[in-house]
Parts: sequence; structure tokens; C-alpha cells
Amino acid sequence: MTEPLVMTTSSPQETQALGRKLGALARAGDVYLLSGALGTGKTCLTQGIAWGLGVQEYAHSPTFVLVHVYRGRLPVYHMDLFRIDDIREVVDLGIDDYLEGDGVCVVEWAEKAVEAFPVEHLLVRLEHVGEQERRLTLEPRGHRYRELVEALRLALGSAEVQR
Ligand SMILES: Nc1ncnc2c1ncn2[C@@H]1O[C@H](COP(=O)(O)OP(=O)(O)OP(=O)(O)O)[C@@H](O)[C@H]1O
Ligand SMILES: [Mg+2]
Repeated sequence: MTEPLVMTTSSPQETQALGRKLGALARAGDVYLLSGALGTGKTCLTQGIAWGLGVQEYAHSPTFVLVHVYRGRLPVYHMDLFRIDDIREVVDLGIDDYLEGDGVCVVEWAEKAVEAFPVEHLLVRLEHVGEQERRLTLEPRGHRYRELVEALRLALGSAEVQR
């Protein structure tokens, strides 16, 4: 069994750097569900994931649209469910089109509609530890994501996240 990967970052740049390493390992069809309170760094992590996938733009929270698409080595579908009140709204978004496998789905506030997403996914829990410290717990759900977490562990080398 693969243990969750737990990292504490001490700056937004470190959280982005972790995301960048994850993005570099991403494969078409991957689903990353991000769960955590306001300001824990979900968008920050997503920026890194997008950069790691070769996206040139700066990812912003898709506040008014629910999905932003970035073009990188693979398409990145960045969703933010903050404004969602009911899981049916997520289903009505037609997220199946995004989950079909050509790109990578990164979902902020995924806890609002976990059931709308595939049972196999990478769950990333983000928590405030201090002003600048955030704890990220990466829990693989399914074979692909256990492999991904092991590859990420190797890529990280030591516990240190390099910039
Ligand atoms: N270690 C850290 N990792 C990430 N962000 C950090 C860290 N330390 C401080 N911050 C700050 O915390 C904030 C994180 O903002 P971000 O928009 O990424 O959070 P979020 O989880 O997406 O919030 P929201 O729920 O509003 O979407 C930023 O202002 C960032 O500068
Ligand atoms: Mg956000």
C-alpha cells in the first residue's frame, strides 16, 4: 500500500514547485481533486501543475466561469467548485467531456462534489499550518495514482521541494 505523501511548504513558491513536479509527471486522463479551506494554496498548486505541463499562462481561479482550459503538453481543465451549492450543478456542467481522457483535470473545492468525479483520482488535502506554512497530503486512489505518488516521491528526492 502506498502511504500518502505529506509535504509542508513554507512559501507559495514551494507549493508551486511541488505542483510543477506533479505536472511534469501528469498523464492524459489524470484527475486531481484539491480539498482545503480558503487560502490554503489550491490555486497556487494548480499554477505549478499547469507550468509543469508546459502551460505558459498564469492560472487564475476560474471564479466566474467554472472551468478554465489551459494549453500545455496536454490540456489542463482547471475547475473551481467554490460557488457550487449542489452536486447536480457539477453534473450539469458536462464534466464528462473534460474527464474523457485527453487532458488533466484539476479541481478546487472538489469536496463539494467528490461523487461527480471518477473513484480513481489523486486527492490533495491542503491545510494551514502557519502564516506561510501549508501541509499538503497527497492520497492516491487507484493504481495509476499510487504509481504517480511513488514517481513524485522519487522526483522530490529528499523531503525538500526544490524551486
Ligand atoms: N506555503 C504556501 N503555499 C501556498 N500559498 C501560500 C503559502 N504561504 C502563503 N501563501 C499565500 O496563501 C494564499 C493562497 O492562495 P490560493 O489562491 O492559492 O488559495 P486557494 O486555496 O486557491 O484559495 P480559494 O479557496 O480562495 O480558492 C496566497 O495569498 C499565497 O501567497
Ligand atoms: Mg483558489
